[in-house]
Amino acid sequence: MSAVEPEKDVLHVVGGRPLNGTIKVRGAKNLVSKAMVAALLAPGRSVLKNVPEIRDVQVVSDLLRLHGVSVDVNGDTGEVAIDAHHVEMPAVSDVETLSGASRIPILFSGPLLHRLGEAFIPSLGGCRIGDRPIDFHLETLRKLGADVDKEHEDGIHITAPHGLQGAKIHLPYPSVGATEQTILAAVLAEGKTELSGAAVEPEIMDLIAILQKMGAVISVDVDRTIRIEGVRELKGYTHTALTDRIEVASWASAALATRGDVFVKGATQPEMMTFLNIYRKVGGEFDVTDEGIHFWHPGGDLHAVALETDVHPGFMTDWQQPLVVALTQAKGLSIVHETVYENRFGFTKPLVDMGATIQLYKECLGSLPCRFKQHNFEHSAVIFGPTPLAGQDIDVPDLRGGFSHLIAALAAQGESSVHGISLIDRGYADFRGKLAALGAGID
Ligand code: EPU
Repeated sequence: MSAVEPEKDVLHVVGGRPLNGTIKVRGAKNLVSKAMVAALLAPGRSVLKNVPEIRDVQVVSDLLRLHGVSVDVNGDTGEVAIDAHHVEMPAVSDVETLSGASRIPILFSGPLLHRLGEAFIPSLGGCRIGDRPIDFHLETLRKLGADVDKEHEDGIHITAPHGLQGAKIHLPYPSVGATEQTILAAVLAEGKTELSGAAVEPEIMDLIAILQKMGAVISVDVDRTIRIEGVRELKGYTHTALTDRIEVASWASAALATRGDVFVKGATQPEMMTFLNIYRKVGGEFDVTDEGIHFWHPGGDLHAVALETDVHPGFMTDWQQPLVVALTQAKGLSIVHETVYENRFGFTKPLVDMGATIQLYKECLGSLPCRFKQHNFEHSAVIFGPTPLAGQDIDVPDLRGGFSHLIAALAAQGESSVHGISLIDRGYADFRGKLAALGAGID
């Protein structure tokens, strides 16, 4: 996607109107991009369904095409067909054009090592919500037998002169990306891999389901150990991506913050249970149907809550930001302890400028074990509500923070200008169309 001119990259919002209506949410951003990478493992044709039209899909498509893979994206039907019969090493200068676009390219490492014996990974992008190192990824690749050369300014060159071999790997923290890295690299490695301390997010389980369709042998134990028995070859897959539970929670929070009523078609209950429990405690109503989940504000006061973000099955860090906006409208003191990212409360400053009362703390305001204890990160928040919000000029800081600012602008009295709005295209397909369908005052 080409850069948007700054003066056009703005959304004007007239707030104070409840969002009412129906929208449809497609597959999870944090699954589809990885499912597309998985297609690289097989010299065959794969079809992924329920794919949203978001920028991460374009970035992964571009990187696949640079490697000689054919990618056919049908935005209307949500189907992506990938033919990876042919894979080739692109020019480093071409790969470098994708530097900073996304975090997904690091996951190309294992599949490219299997198909080509080498990989050049461009510098990573993604939201600035903490340091976001890739040490676990590189350690995993080394343990499986890869040589990692970080000398390049705009990327990392990785080789596996003797192929990849299964290994015992332990993750110091259940990282989603490092778990996916291990699985994608180990499925075609020689021998068995045992990954302990793994993440078990629903998107990872869906990726494992795809790999099983392709011919992989992977088991998941309740103690977060994932065992992968390397196989010699994999074949293409056909799969319907699971729904984006972050997008669902974002619209659910928007319904609450604007005192609205939103039916989210495509939303499914099992991956949302932890969110739904908190939604109910806050005072939001919901009704689960075969077609989706209906979320609404029942009138009266919302209630303050205390919550801590955590890896699955805990309360997702990506649910935190949109819900915090709704908590500014709840009666009393809400407490949020962020334990996944050290720097995910930067988005609260504009909320305070709009009239919210939010105080950040470096202490752990909760009981979960937290890596940020005794460090200098403001990773706990106390929100006092309800406070009326007033329209403002806002700069979108990152994907989830940006969508949260949009929710705040919709809930606020008066007009807001939200700048840098195209950042939200990374993860929210057609959000302008969906806002219009819900009766938002936008142009
Ligand atoms: N970490 C390390 N070293 C590593 C990898 C991770 O220290 O090598 C740390 C991170 O700094 C972070 C924690 O481990 O503090 C968790 O990071 P994780 O690796 O789980 O995150 P990720 O794979 O980079 C994915 C999602 C994020 C989501 C997190 C947590 C994708 C593309 N991104 O990131 O989604 O917040 O898992 O669930 O799947 C988003 O969609 O807006 C988003 C940020």
